[in-house]
Amino acid sequence: MEERKGFGSNFGFLMAAVGSAVGLGNIWGFPNKMGANGGFTFLIIYLLLAACCGLIVMIGELALGRKTGKGAVGAYKILSKKFRWLGWLGILSAFLILFFYCALGGYCIKYVVLNVGNLFGAGFGSNGLNGAEVFGAFMGNQMEAVIYGLIFVLLTMLIVMGGVGGGIEKVCSVGMPALFIILLICIIRACTLPGAVDGLKYMFVPGWALEHGVIDKAPDLLTVLSTAGGQMFFSLSLGMGAMITYGSYLNKKENIEKNALLIVIMDTMVALMAGLCVIPGRFALDPTGKLGGPSLLFVTMQNVFDNMPLGSVFGILFYLLVVFAAISSSISLLEVIVAHFCDKAREKGKGDKRKAYSLIAAAAVGVGCILVCLDCLGGAGISPFNILGMNPENGLPMWSDCWLDFFDCISEGILMPLGALLMCLCIGWEIGPKVVDEEVTLEGQNFKLRGFFNICVKIITPLGMLLVLYGQIKDFFF
Ligand code: PFF
Repeated sequence: MEERKGFGSNFGFLMAAVGSAVGLGNIWGFPNKMGANGGFTFLIIYLLLAACCGLIVMIGELALGRKTGKGAVGAYKILSKKFRWLGWLGILSAFLILFFYCALGGYCIKYVVLNVGNLFGAGFGSNGLNGAEVFGAFMGNQMEAVIYGLIFVLLTMLIVMGGVGGGIEKVCSVGMPALFIILLICIIRACTLPGAVDGLKYMFVPGWALEHGVIDKAPDLLTVLSTAGGQMFFSLSLGMGAMITYGSYLNKKENIEKNALLIVIMDTMVALMAGLCVIPGRFALDPTGKLGGPSLLFVTMQNVFDNMPLGSVFGILFYLLVVFAAISSSISLLEVIVAHFCDKAREKGKGDKRKAYSLIAAAAVGVGCILVCLDCLGGAGISPFNILGMNPENGLPMWSDCWLDFFDCISEGILMPLGALLMCLCIGWEIGPKVVDEEVTLEGQNFKLRGFFNICVKIITPLGMLLVLYGQIKDFFF
């Protein structure tokens, strides 16, 4: 059987895993949710959840992957009778997330190009339009959105085709440190704008957003908890097999516990840093701009760049940063799918057929991405492709406004917390935490968090997950 090639170094693995975790979720989700949900209070709850749920699921996923040496589907098949189907849930989530993630990634590429246009005064720049008008014009141009979305899918596919060591590791080992440096430059620029301090207050001072009318109602504790929990799962790429898949390529001599801890810490750090970059900019230069979601990135931030000296240079840097962040996440999503089919082909002695499977999976992703682009992230309103938008009976909006929300709702809202909950039940109550313990302590490694892990994986994490799941379902559907 052909050898299964993995990461060349622990640094490469760490950069790829952090790359998977750091993405659009950090840039438009975390800072805004933190500000709107009680600032520092949210951060404390987030950190508690990250320690008691995120870290536990991270250690579990990496250990299951490395132990079996298989992607998500193969890993559960080997380990468990009752949960042998669980990996397929991961593949489904990966497809659903990729559909909208690639569409958004395409928009980010478009905004790099737009700012290059602004820098040189070229026709493909803003042409005097403000952020909302540029975004509106782009949303009206479905073909352009589709083309950029497909360029993003193509880039993702090419990297995954290069394999784990050759493609993913190489791109992340360069891209992640670059992202960090660009982020630092953008933070310095944003925090030195006049008025930036209000952004910092919005993010960090409990109750500031309510007192200053940025939000109109104080969120209740369950909402804060489920918002923080949902954000944490999406942000750490957990509950859908991405970390099982990356773990399966990790060398047996590396320390799982330490790596898991580093991934959680770095992801949270970058989320906070992303906040220091986008939120002060918004408060200083576009005080009424949206604080979250696609509009934060594509309207508010563009207005910020339009209103600052040398704005197009910072615009290019910022959107490049977002493209890096998005692509290092999308490759991990595609790898969840491709790894499974490569494993199967290898078992049959047919080589791994990585290129062919990457192409087929990317083609399927392309179809979903086109759908999201055609209804313009929901902006098309009455687009014929937005078949989820209106109830034909009474013309009222249905539970999901558009394909983007629909795919997001099913994957992030339900499948990911459910996947993590079932994984904990599988480890805690079916195969036993010992299986993880043996893998973590291979080659004489220490498992300092053993006691904490055992209690959490059996009781605390599943309870936390249930709460998050309940809150998410309540939020999304009612
Ligand atoms: N963690 C990514 C983000 O914060 O944008 C999203 C993501 C990537 C989720 C990979 C799941 C995944 F497998």
